[in-house]
Amino acid sequence: MKHINIAIDGPAGAGKSTISKIVAGELGFVYIDTGAMYRAAALYAIEHGIDIKHEKDKLIENLDSIEIDIKHTENGQKIYLCGKEVTERIREADVSIGASDIAVIPEVRLKLVELQRTLARGNHVIMDGRDIGTYVLPDADLKIFLTASLEDRAMRRYEELKQKGIDCEFESVKKDMAYRDKNDSEREFAPLKMAEDATLADTTGNTLEQSVEMIKEMIKTKMEQLGV
Ligand code: DC
Repeated sequence: MKHINIAIDGPAGAGKSTISKIVAGELGFVYIDTGAMYRAAALYAIEHGIDIKHEKDKLIENLDSIEIDIKHTENGQKIYLCGKEVTERIREADVSIGASDIAVIPEVRLKLVELQRTLARGNHVIMDGRDIGTYVLPDADLKIFLTASLEDRAMRRYEELKQKGIDCEFESVKKDMAYRDKNDSEREFAPLKMAEDATLADTTGNTLEQSVEMIKEMIKTKMEQLGV
């Protein structure tokens, strides 16, 4: 049987993971959050006192020690770093910035891309990230570039953090997001970029339900075309 691969790329806060998780659950796909892997790698550096921007060599020397696992449970996807669950910790601001900085390093990317491709093999998957359509899964059956205005994305992230009880300021969330947009788009190796054969989905002004519906319809149409 043919396995379908869906690539969802876009900037931080566009709703990629929230939407992908819901749609994957409803359509019976395995959801793979590649951003969580960069976050886990960044957390490794933070916990080992490695300065990501200035100690790249030290980080590269330690690459083999960074063990990342993703487990799919009834309560959603759980991320493990060297055997310890870090699902919640990796959502904090220091890890977000660290992930964007670590993602610039080609050696780190190559290691994580290998893991991502292995996970995609043999499953119907929805994989989200920055370079899935352009680099990780260039033959994906459907490529979606999900975006929204910076203001909207920052507001969604701010509300999400507040809901989790994390103390933060809107302006600082927006500033961190603008930093990541620039860093992720301007890096040399596999930057955030819309694939030529991707479909643009702009969720500015949408409710979550509207965005979920939009993405679900795109995937269902593709499945019908492929006769799956
Ligand atoms: O999607 P996210 O916010 O969890 O991703 C965290 C960081 O990881 C993001 O700023 C850039 C990096 N990343 C990447 O470079 N390539 C991916 N496929 C996924 C994430």
